[in-house]
Amino acid sequence: MKYLLTGCAGFVGARTAELLLDQGHEVAGLDDLNDYYSPRLKRHRLDSLQTRPGFRFHAGDVGSRADVDRLFAAERSFDAVINLAARAGVRASMEDPRLYQRTNADGSLNLLEAMRQTGCAKLVLASTSSLYAGRASPFRESDPVDTPISPYAATKRAAEVMAYSYHHLYKVDVSIVRYFTVYGPAGRPDMSPLRFIHWIKQGRPIRLFGDGTQSRDFTYIDDIARGTILALQPVGYEIFNLGGGRRPVTMLEFIRLIEQALGKTAVIDRQPFHQADMLETAAVIDKARDRLGWSPEIDLAEGVQRTVRWYLENESWLAAELA
Ligand SMILES: NC(=O)c1ccc[n+]([C@@H]2O[C@H](COP(=O)([O-])OP(=O)(O)OC[C@H]3O[C@@H](n4cnc5c(N)ncnc54)[C@H](O)[C@@H]3O)[C@@H](O)[C@H]2O)c1
Repeated sequence: MKYLLTGCAGFVGARTAELLLDQGHEVAGLDDLNDYYSPRLKRHRLDSLQTRPGFRFHAGDVGSRADVDRLFAAERSFDAVINLAARAGVRASMEDPRLYQRTNADGSLNLLEAMRQTGCAKLVLASTSSLYAGRASPFRESDPVDTPISPYAATKRAAEVMAYSYHHLYKVDVSIVRYFTVYGPAGRPDMSPLRFIHWIKQGRPIRLFGDGTQSRDFTYIDDIARGTILALQPVGYEIFNLGGGRRPVTMLEFIRLIEQALGKTAVIDRQPFHQADMLETAAVIDKARDRLGWSPEIDLAEGVQRTVRWYLENESWLAAELA
């Protein structure tokens, strides 16, 4: 099969592309390699993809109609599009909401239009547990999510509902995958797992928002990438939670696992809880298990060990990329 994967130099995109290539598929990847976080880390992921037969990289902006149309003209057709390109920072979205609208909402629309024009009938769209803010945890796909509390969440919801219109009007088959706090090797430097590892290793205080009892349903990168690929199967229009699906883990417990893996104790610098943050995220994942045959396989202690190992192997160049 031939897939378009947007955000291919990103954390989830690069691992998903690797698994697709392992399965013998062709992958055209789009990314603008922006500097929201270390472009060197994005390059690092991309460099390893570019050694793989079956992978082609297109530099471009998903928010630009011209870039998307040029890519579809060059590649002609795809069996499916996996849209992972996004601006993905909750707090950063408050500073530049228009950029979030352009990338996350308009970008998805640009892809849907190009799909309609070229007859591509399958979309997997990455969405987020941030949509559930304000709902009672654990979260189900059927929960009402039309009161997002950040521009990031609002633009992700906008993409979900636009995809529904294209499903209704043009029979595009759509799987929405709502990810829950993804962590793992080559992870995002703007998210706590990698930052905490870095700060603890360097003996610097960890900036922890709130009292550390807020909890997350951490999900290991390989499980997320595998779930994203399973979501390529035809479903009509469906939303799937991809989350750890176990007891959510507090930030303090998560820090303890990092301390064990590093053999070092954290110094904690407590900061006030942020109003766009969530106290707990826990996923009900029965639907992904029943409909996609997906369930997470890597437990948290193992995942943290693998992440710490990757950090230590790459520390010499990575440390300069992490604030
Ligand atoms: N990592 C998580 O915990 C998490 C949780 C929920 C949802 N998500 C969603 O999963 C998807 C992947 O996230 P990630 O963690 O890999 O983030 P990431 O930032 O590592 O990856 C996104 C990639 O998209 C690229 N990109 C951004 N704007 C672009 C544009 N205008 N044109 C082309 N490329 C662009 C970036 O350069 C980056 O490489 C995103 O849609 C994100 O919203 C991630």
